[in-house]
Amino acid sequence: MTDLFDKHRPIAERFQRMMELGVNAVGITNDKLLSPTCALIQGRETILAGTNNYMGITFEPSAIAAGKKALDDFGTGTTGSRIANGSYAMHKELERELAKFLNRKHCIVFTTGYQANLGMISGLAGARDTVYLDADSHSSIYDGCTLSGAKLVRFRHNDAADLDKRLSRSEGEEGGKLVVLEGIYSMLGDRAPLKDFVELKRKHNFQLLVDEAHSFGVLGPHGRGLADEAGLEAEADFVVGTFSKSIGSIGGFGSFVLHALADRGLLDGACRIEELLDQAQRLGQKSVAVTEHGNMFSAVVFHDAARKRGITPILGCEVYVAPGSRFDKSGTPGETANHLVLLAENDTGFKNLIKLVSAGYTEGFYYKPRIDKELLARHASGLIGLSSCLKGEVATEVRGPSPKKAMAAAARMGLSWRRKAGAQSNGASTPAAMGMRMTL
Ligand SMILES: Cc1ncc(COP(=O)(O)O)c(C=O)c1O
Repeated sequence: MTDLFDKHRPIAERFQRMMELGVNAVGITNDKLLSPTCALIQGRETILAGTNNYMGITFEPSAIAAGKKALDDFGTGTTGSRIANGSYAMHKELERELAKFLNRKHCIVFTTGYQANLGMISGLAGARDTVYLDADSHSSIYDGCTLSGAKLVRFRHNDAADLDKRLSRSEGEEGGKLVVLEGIYSMLGDRAPLKDFVELKRKHNFQLLVDEAHSFGVLGPHGRGLADEAGLEAEADFVVGTFSKSIGSIGGFGSFVLHALADRGLLDGACRIEELLDQAQRLGQKSVAVTEHGNMFSAVVFHDAARKRGITPILGCEVYVAPGSRFDKSGTPGETANHLVLLAENDTGFKNLIKLVSAGYTEGFYYKPRIDKELLARHASGLIGLSSCLKGEVATEVRGPSPKKAMAAAARMGLSWRRKAGAQSNGASTPAAMGMRMTL
């Protein structure tokens, strides 16, 4: 019978041989740090030639003081995952500051750089997609790819011609293509010839992720890494980095520009369009609506993908409606807007929807892109309104002390109610089972 340790025996034997030489190369312990690049190891002052402390800032007084203050203010841990209850205001602030520094729309921080690659790659690529990896990629990139379930294609290290060949071979295959490069390669210390790879983007239409773990803080006029140095930041759709090297701390980040996530921008649903349409087809749905919160970033991608499958796409948006004027930018963030689902019934409605959603950003933005009833009244033609989720105005009133207020809210908005086809009246129907045509 084999036991679990059988496969480790050859490694144990090699380790034993190394120990017989009197050196444990994989077990070096820094007993005391004397400076960013010097430590006491087995009683000897030793230069740390292998450290990634590129900017030597692990003893930066302001960073140490900020760390101590954070301990005083927030304690030793969040004791919860970020998605449940472990997201703190300082996480958000850090993400905003990092996005600003990186000149990108969004940034998400992770506990380590390793997890940044796991999270970004497995979030971006799915079972239908292909990830193209440099053969000398860091293990976190390989693991992210395995976790994603995507097809993995390796190309020769820093060889754009080899990647070109492999991309040509998979021409016409379904799914998206993600190419992953490192700014400076952790294994070899050389740089990716970014320009050569970027030139392939036009030909093969892939998306590019650059892991700047070893180049962040070190390369480029802004210190943002290889893409910054090469003047090709706009071509890097996604950037990953770590705080454990030049930043002298721990943690990692992934960053992206908004348009790159357009066809996956279904906030709250985290649902991918092709997979949504797969499911719609399995269920025999003839038409499907997509209503992102406050935006329509996926509209074009969704429309084209649905048409290709013979499914009627219904374009819509779950807008935020300010309780008063959209220009009033005061009040508690969570309470400054109600939700309302709008669906375009025809071309006029689609154009009105675009006007409303745009004005939500250009005029009404306060924590969220908000419209108001005055704007709604001006652009109501061709739109169907649904009472939305529990955060809809009417649904909120229904749950309040006086359900009559719900009808008053509907009346105030000038909406004529009608039951959606097939909705049963059992005396307990909720607004969620009802639709309303905008008749303002
Ligand atoms: C290229 C690359 N990506 C990601 C990582 C992971 O970063 P961390 O050690 O902060 O988890 C490393 C670390 O060695 C790396 O070299």
